[in-house]
Amino acid sequence: MFHIPVLVDEVLSFVKNGIWVDTTLGTGGHTEAILTRFDKVFVYGIDRDIESLEIAKTRLKRFKGKIKFICGDFRNLKALISEPVCGVLFDIGLSSFQLDDAERGFSYRLDGPLDMRVNRTNGLPLQRRLRHLTRAQIENILRDYGEERRARGIAKKIYNSRDKIETTADLRDLVGGDSRTLSRVFQAFRIFTNDELENLREGLHTALSILKKKGRIIVISYHSLEDRIVKQFFKENSHLVVLTKKPIRPSEEEIASNPRARSAKMRVAEAREGGRGKREERMTNDQ
Ligand SMILES: C[S@@+](CC[C@H](N)C(=O)[O-])C[C@H]1O[C@@H](n2cnc3c(N)ncnc32)[C@H](O)[C@@H]1O
Repeated sequence: MFHIPVLVDEVLSFVKNGIWVDTTLGTGGHTEAILTRFDKVFVYGIDRDIESLEIAKTRLKRFKGKIKFICGDFRNLKALISEPVCGVLFDIGLSSFQLDDAERGFSYRLDGPLDMRVNRTNGLPLQRRLRHLTRAQIENILRDYGEERRARGIAKKIYNSRDKIETTADLRDLVGGDSRTLSRVFQAFRIFTNDELENLREGLHTALSILKKKGRIIVISYHSLEDRIVKQFFKENSHLVVLTKKPIRPSEEEIASNPRARSAKMRVAEAREGGRGKREERMTNDQ
């Protein structure tokens, strides 16, 4: 049932004792590793998916007093956390606990309602939202969030049948094509349904606002659109020193044992001690 956390040792190598926020607690894999390794860490564990949070609560019971669970969106970090912290972790996207649940409608491999909301108590399922989109909007979603070259043709098919699409299988059969096309189309609609890119932009900004000097932001992302946002944000922010010149990727061994790690990229930055000197880049962890 648990999601296998990605790049755990690499994350741990950048953690320092102090207060951390795991903004994407999921089923608690990274936080469990952090709390096991560091005895002077306190974690605010946030997730906007209440079901994942419940699993994490049970799993992390033994760390009572060292963790506070919060159901919320990392976009609202500033409202959720009222003290300066020494680290913020983002492991964005979805966990296998969510992807493997047919009822949530994220996967074209499983047949279920075309929902795609991370938080099912909020907003409308994709199947309902599709009915209100124009053909041009669908095309833009597929192009911007899925980087799909056949966006126009696929958008036309979806638009013409939008009233009949109820399930993931309906969408899959309509789009046709190979698994890569289907992955791109499903990814695009998932990003749209949950406003994922805007959330990430907002989340990074608010993370910076609660970070102590020398505090760290660690971000693991799973596709190029997200990684571009992280890279840009780190690069353009004069309050941050980039600690990873190139993104850190999982080893061959990790990918072999957990294929979902394949596309992961991790970037880390640290808040400056003061001033806005020349941007420096270091590959190593300087604990
Ligand atoms: C890849 S999983 C994290 C897995 C976790 N690191 C672990 O080891 O189990 C991403 C998690 O982020 C959550 N999530 C996605 N967008 C979010 C947001 N805007 N605010 C809070 N949580 C979010 C998802 O519900 C999901 O549980």
